Amino acid sequence: MNPYLPYEAEIMERHQETDTVFTLHLRLTDPEMGRSYQFQPGQFNMLYLFGVGEVPISISSDPQEPHLLGHTIRSVGRVTEGMAKLAVGDRIGIRGPYGRGWPLKAAEGKDVIIVTGGLGCAPVVSVINYIMKRRDRYGKLTIIQGVKHPRDMIYREQYDAWAKIPDTRVFLSASSGEALWPWHVGSVIDLFSEVKFDSAVSVSMMCGPEGMMIAAIRLLLERGMPEHSIYMSMERNMQCAIGHCGHCQYGGKFICKNGPVFAYPDVKELLGIKGF
Ligand SMILES: Cc1cc2nc3c(=O)[nH]c(=O)nc-3n(C[C@H](O)[C@H](O)[C@H](O)COP(=O)(O)OP(=O)(O)OC[C@H]3O[C@@H](n4cnc5c(N)ncnc54)[C@H](O)[C@@H]3O)c2cc1C
Ligand code: FES
Repeated sequence: MNPYLPYEAEIMERHQETDTVFTLHLRLTDPEMGRSYQFQPGQFNMLYLFGVGEVPISISSDPQEPHLLGHTIRSVGRVTEGMAKLAVGDRIGIRGPYGRGWPLKAAEGKDVIIVTGGLGCAPVVSVINYIMKRRDRYGKLTIIQGVKHPRDMIYREQYDAWAKIPDTRVFLSASSGEALWPWHVGSVIDLFSEVKFDSAVSVSMMCGPEGMMIAAIRLLLERGMPEHSIYMSMERNMQCAIGHCGHCQYGGKFICKNGPVFAYPDVKELLGIKGF
């Protein structure tokens, strides 16, 4: 693939997850491109709405099924609002995959703690699916997900299904509750008091608002998790996605190329500093 050139993809399926969040399943229209395309959980594609613009979006589907690429998108601005209007059969451009994904090899044999806030679950849902299909290679799986409001909760049925799988625990929270919300009401950080883990054999992967990740990291460190066992996915505005334009510069690193997944020690000096 030419890294600058978008390739045409057809929308094969479209799911409305919430009022503002939808998932597009895309298939590259060039069969040879489709066959050679491969990605790792945690990587992203640049999706191009023809005549409007391009945005980075994580790949949320299973890497073993790269012929159908899932992207869960929140409609927030010019490009994503345009994408929200697309229907099955419409075409968009894709270039990618880009960036470094989650450390799934390094996590083999360990317990995995996934912490997400809001739409942060999109980049890690492919990790969850990956581990579910290779359950014998990983220890206990703990999934901690927080949203602002119950109506922001996406993949609701999937969380129910995951919670029933042996050695898998799911903790959900919403900052404000409603009558049919059966889980915790409050911050996702509150859930940590319920979560038991052995920090010596655990790896944590997190994605979501930076304030949430900073608070979660503080708790994990207090409970003895080594810094190098904590990984996070970072977001910044992007343009080239291949480390050339500098739009996503984060200190001495480029999020598109050195990330979006970073080990905590690689970014800890910059986290929470305004302007970075
Ligand atoms: C590696 C990576 C993976 C991403 N994965 C997903 C995903 O799976 N699903 C998803 O919905 N979004 C994802 N995003 C964010 C997505 O790229 C932006 O929301 C998108 O660029 C918005 O474009 P727009 O033209 O619709 O909105 P714009 O008109 O560009 O912006 C609308 C609003 O969103 C803010 N904004 C724009 N981009 C970002 C950003 N990157 N971070 C924080 N605020 C931003 C702007 O400041 C503005 O307030 C990802 C971003 C990165 C860097
Ligand atoms: S988007 Fe251009 S350097 Fe990262």
